Amino acid sequence: MRHSALDPFGVQAAQITELWWVYAGVCVAVYLVTLGFLLFALWRSRRGGEAQPDAEELARRNRRAAPFVLGGVALTVATLLALLVQDFLVGRAIARGGAERAAAVRIEVIGHQWWWELRYDDPLPSRRFTTANELHVPVGHAVELTLSSHDVIHSFWAPSLHGKMDLIPGYRRAMTIEVSEPGRYLGQCAEFCGHQHANMKLIVHAVSPQDFERWRARQAEPARSPQTAAQLRGQQVFLGSSCIMCHAIDGTVAAGQVAPNLTHLASRTTIAAGMLPNTRGHLGGWIVNPQALKPGVNMPANVLPPGDLHALLEYLQSLR
Ligand code: CUA
Repeated sequence: MRHSALDPFGVQAAQITELWWVYAGVCVAVYLVTLGFLLFALWRSRRGGEAQPDAEELARRNRRAAPFVLGGVALTVATLLALLVQDFLVGRAIARGGAERAAAVRIEVIGHQWWWELRYDDPLPSRRFTTANELHVPVGHAVELTLSSHDVIHSFWAPSLHGKMDLIPGYRRAMTIEVSEPGRYLGQCAEFCGHQHANMKLIVHAVSPQDFERWRARQAEPARSPQTAAQLRGQQVFLGSSCIMCHAIDGTVAAGQVAPNLTHLASRTTIAAGMLPNTRGHLGGWIVNPQALKPGVNMPANVLPPGDLHALLEYLQSLR
């Protein structure tokens, strides 16, 4: 998965990477010049053989050095100013680029301890839906992300696509991303937010606009109804347990809002915010004892009779 600020695959990230190289180039040049002067000074002092200069000679030398010192200070100030201006221009270009282009897709990104809630917005209510931890976007289109937090400060960072932006409780901030190449990109919460901060990953799937529309249409549909006896029993286990206090499955009575929406759980590649592959084994282990896998997570352990667990897994895995 792509995950490097020096390997940009987005319009905004490319501008940031360019700025990075400018800064790196200037810093290396300054370092080498400084080192050069230092070596020159060492070489001169080691040449030695010179008698200790008297006060008058020292004053004369200081007067001679003054223009060089002043020049050095001026050059330093000018360099820092130039970097500041460059930084400001890039920031403005990114902000203006986001404001100028009408967003093809609008997504609300809400940080939770420790997962990402993703609400796809649309003027048509029937096309709105909620998913978690895996962000699908169409390549070559501006996607507007509105960032906020449900609890503490988190930070959205997909280095190959854009710079960091904090998710702050009580605030809504917007950023625009535009991915230039299909692929999977890794995002990561970049602000320490508690015990499982390191396991708050976000996967960005950048796909062609056609594939995106297909995915989007499927996600907006209510959950698939049970097709087999085991799936039906699994649904009954789910709806009859405390799962529905926190999770939602659209098309059923489960409408909890504090944990990931499971309507199309089986269409996601990972569970637990990018921590584990979405396989039957991991899902089963997660349901039975999530604390063992991700200590501190809000989900409690669920001790189920083996038959019920099997049926529940059948049902959850049918939610494509
Ligand atoms: Cu959320 Cu760190």
